[in-house]
Amino acid sequence: MNAKLDSTATSRPVTRQTYDEVLVPTYAPAAMVPVRASGLDLWDQSGKHYLDFTSGIAVAALGHCNPIVVEALTRQANTVWHLGNGYTNEPVLRLGIAITEATFADRAFFCNSGAEANEAALKLARKHAHNKFGAHKSRIVSCLNSFHGRTLFTVSAGGQPKYTEGFEPLPPMIDHIPYNDIEAARAAIGDDVCAVIVEPVQGEGGVMPGNPDYLQALRDLCDKTGALLIFDEVQCGMGRTGSLFAYMGYGIVPDVLTSAKALGNGFPVAAMLTTEELAHTLSVGTHGTTYGGNPLAATVALTVLETINQPAFLARVKEASLYLIDKLEELIRDYPQVYASVRGAGLLLGLVVTDAFKGRSKDIQRAVENEGLMVLIAGPDVVRLAPALVVTDAQIDEALRLMRKGLDTLLAAK
Ligand SMILES: Cc1ncc(COP(=O)(O)O)c(C=O)c1O
Repeated sequence: MNAKLDSTATSRPVTRQTYDEVLVPTYAPAAMVPVRASGLDLWDQSGKHYLDFTSGIAVAALGHCNPIVVEALTRQANTVWHLGNGYTNEPVLRLGIAITEATFADRAFFCNSGAEANEAALKLARKHAHNKFGAHKSRIVSCLNSFHGRTLFTVSAGGQPKYTEGFEPLPPMIDHIPYNDIEAARAAIGDDVCAVIVEPVQGEGGVMPGNPDYLQALRDLCDKTGALLIFDEVQCGMGRTGSLFAYMGYGIVPDVLTSAKALGNGFPVAAMLTTEELAHTLSVGTHGTTYGGNPLAATVALTVLETINQPAFLARVKEASLYLIDKLEELIRDYPQVYASVRGAGLLLGLVVTDAFKGRSKDIQRAVENEGLMVLIAGPDVVRLAPALVVTDAQIDEALRLMRKGLDTLLAAK
């Protein structure tokens, strides 16, 4: 019998080595393979426990396998999974009401990933400008060090050449300016610009919060030139900064907002939010995606949104952030040879390494992982922390204890 057909793939033993044998090598995953998780606790194949301060790159905001989300997903899984775009469904209609009531937006387009939400936003901006002003208004302005996804359009909008190299020819008419530089924005945002896309807090690019003056200047320049201001809140949105969306904390309203990651707590779902007028740019047949807003995704997103968008929940995020920053400042004082500063917003924080540790964020990540703490990096010089928003003070204390242990081992080995 054909060995491939005979094997019971669902129960076959697999290891980290299997990754190197059968998956396209787009990532370099950790040596351990997680198998089970609950809240911020996670266990690998050997049964070793980890405290997760990554939440799957700012995704599992309510913690892994959150019972409220599991219950909603299970209920919907036994009701109807998928219908296709020839039919709407009750969960997506309810989600549409909830997300537009909660934000500046009048309309939502649902899709599956942050890249797709940004792709939709950029397409909307191009089409809107072409309809209203003509095809000359096509230029997109984005920021250096930004990250907007991996489709060809969004990776070109992203400001990190390492991600576009080799994929040329790239979509034209996309310019990149330094982040938080008002003069550069003034010089770049002219009448041929259809969209300015920006992360209110840059995530992948090093956990860099936008200056309020800068984001306001972008708003003013867009108003002056008729360009659309797109806030990419894929990483910083959905409660992570202590506001439902970061724009609310800044008091600066975009024309288009994109959300993903925490919106589904791990279930793939994303949204592009916009105004009544702009939404009509994408008329029937102009854009779409098979799974966008299917009943499973919409049920999960609605449950997550309703849980996060509570004053007490968001207040606790702010409180946990202050506590964590306080502890990280103590850590920086105790390890001045490793860390120079902490920056970020809410529970999206970056520890910037010293010159002596430049390029070594990954070494730190591995060292603390050995002690049982999972953290992220944001480039070679920043260790990024993005715990679930339900993190407790006791878990923060434990994370700092493990971080110190990892650093001690790393320094001893030096
Ligand atoms: C700010 C931002 N935008 C877009 C994306 C892309 O999202 P996805 O990986 O879901 O396509 C990311 C992912 O890290 C992100 O951080």
